[in-house]
Amino acid sequence: MPTERRSLIMLFGATGDLATRKLYPAMYNLFKKGNIRDHFAVIGTSRHSVDDAKFRDIVTKSVNDAEKKADKKLVADFIKHFFFVTHDVTDLEHYSVLKDKAEELDKEFKLNGNRVFYISMAPNFFGTVAKNLKNQGLLSEGNGFNRLVIEKPFGRDFESAKELNDALSHSFNEDQIYRIDHYLGKEMIQNIEAIRFGNTLFEALWNNRYIDNIQVTLAENLGVEERAGYYDNSGALRDMVQNHIMQIVSLLAMEQPVAFKDVDIRAEKVKALRSLRVYNVAEASTNFVRGQYAAGGNGKEYREEDGVPADSNTETFVAGKLLFDNYRWSGVPFYIRTGKKLADKFTRVDVVFKKPLVDIFSFPQDGNTLLSPNVLTIHIEPNQGFSLVVNAKNGDQGFHTEPVNLDFYESSQRTQNTPQPYERLIHDVLKGDGTNFSSWPEVANAWKFVDQIRRVWDIQQPMFPNYLPGSMGPVAADELLARDHREWIYKLNQ
Ligand code: BG6
Repeated sequence: MPTERRSLIMLFGATGDLATRKLYPAMYNLFKKGNIRDHFAVIGTSRHSVDDAKFRDIVTKSVNDAEKKADKKLVADFIKHFFFVTHDVTDLEHYSVLKDKAEELDKEFKLNGNRVFYISMAPNFFGTVAKNLKNQGLLSEGNGFNRLVIEKPFGRDFESAKELNDALSHSFNEDQIYRIDHYLGKEMIQNIEAIRFGNTLFEALWNNRYIDNIQVTLAENLGVEERAGYYDNSGALRDMVQNHIMQIVSLLAMEQPVAFKDVDIRAEKVKALRSLRVYNVAEASTNFVRGQYAAGGNGKEYREEDGVPADSNTETFVAGKLLFDNYRWSGVPFYIRTGKKLADKFTRVDVVFKKPLVDIFSFPQDGNTLLSPNVLTIHIEPNQGFSLVVNAKNGDQGFHTEPVNLDFYESSQRTQNTPQPYERLIHDVLKGDGTNFSSWPEVANAWKFVDQIRRVWDIQQPMFPNYLPGSMGPVAADELLARDHREWIYKLNQ
C-alpha cells in the first residue's frame, strides 16, 4: 500500500490552463493510487467567481478529458476534496477568507497543519502571493509543513530572477521552495542517473578520455500556436535552454553524488553548472546559433503568426556548444539544440564515444569502412529507452565491420502506466523530496550563462527567417559542428 500523504493544497490559478490540463488529472492519479486519499483538501483560487459546485465540475471535466474511462464513483469521491475561494492576490482582506477556509479544512480533513501553496499564475504575481501568505498569517505554525510550488518562468534574466528569489525568501526558506521544471519529472530524464551511476560500463568511461562529445536535442514540430504573447517575449533560449536543457546537461555532467538524496544531487549539479564556461562576446557569437522559422508546409512564418510583431527578432531555434572547465570534461563539447516547427517532436541525448585509437580493421585496399564511434542514445520522448551503437563483424567472407544497434525500449504498456511528470512532481512535493526541482543556485548559474548569449544577440541583428518548417533548423546549426569536424548524430530521414 502506498503511504498516504496529508496536506492542504492551496492552488493559485485554479481555473487556468495548467491546472485543468495537468494538475487535476495528476492529483486524480495520486488519489487513485492511494498516495492521497482521505486526508487532503484543495482550495482553488482565482479572480473568477466560481462556487464549490462549479469548481468540482471543472475538476471532473478535467479528469474525464484526461482519462476517458475514469471511474465515476472514484471521481465523485475525489472532487469532494475540492473547494473554491474567489481571490484577488493583491487584496489583503481576501487572505483572511483563505486563512479561515484553510483552518476549517485542516480540522475537517485532519491535515496536521501541512500546507502546499501552488502558484500557477502569471510570474509577476509570484512575489506578491508569497509575501502576503506570510504577512497575512497563512503559513502554518506548529508541526505542519509549508511548501511553495512555483511554475516557470523564474525571471527573465539573472537580475529579475534574483529579485524574485529575494521576494520568495522573505516568506520561505530555500528547502521549502519547489521550482517546477517539468522535464525533471520525465521518466527518462530521471533515468540518466540510473544509467550513469548504475552501470560500471558507462560511468567508468564517462569523461574526456573516452567521450568525444555529447548532444542534447529537444525538437518540437509545432509552432508558437496560441502562446505568442508569452513566447515572443521569451524566445527559445529562455523558454527551453535556461531551464530544461541546463537541467539535462547538469545531470549529464555532474559528478557522482555522495548519496541519492536531493541535497547531494543538487550540490553536484550546482558544481557542474559553476564550471560551465560563461562566454565572452566573441565566444558567444561563435558558439551559439539562433533561428526563426519561415513559412512552409501550409504554415505561416513566425513573424506572421497571431500576436507576433511583424519585425520580431525572437528566436524560435537555438543551437549551441557548451564547454565545462573541469577535469572530467575539459575538451568535450556539449552540443545542444531546440526549436519550434522542426522535423518532428522528440527529445534525445546522444553520447558519442571516441573511436578506438587504432583501427586494425581498416584495410583501404579492400575498401573497408572505418570503425564507427560507439554512441549511447538516451531516448527521452516519445520513445523511452536507449540504444548503443557498437561495431561488429558483418558476416561476409572478408573481415568487414559494421555498426549495429543494441536497443532497449520500454513497452507501450509500461510507459502508459508510468506516472506523468506532474503526478511525480506533486507527489515529490507532498513527500518533501526536492530532487526533481531546480534549486536557486542552479537557476542562478543557468541565467548567468544564458544572459551572456542574450546580451550578444540583443546587439546583433539576426537574418530571420532562416529555416524551413520540417527541417532541423538553420544551416548554421550544422556548421557549428562541422567546424569541429563533427556532425549531429540525429539527422533528417533517419
Ligand atoms: C515548455 C515550453 O516549458 O515546454 C514550451 O514553455 C514547450 O514552449 C514545452 O512546448 C515542451 O515540453 P514537452 O514536455 O512537450 O517536451
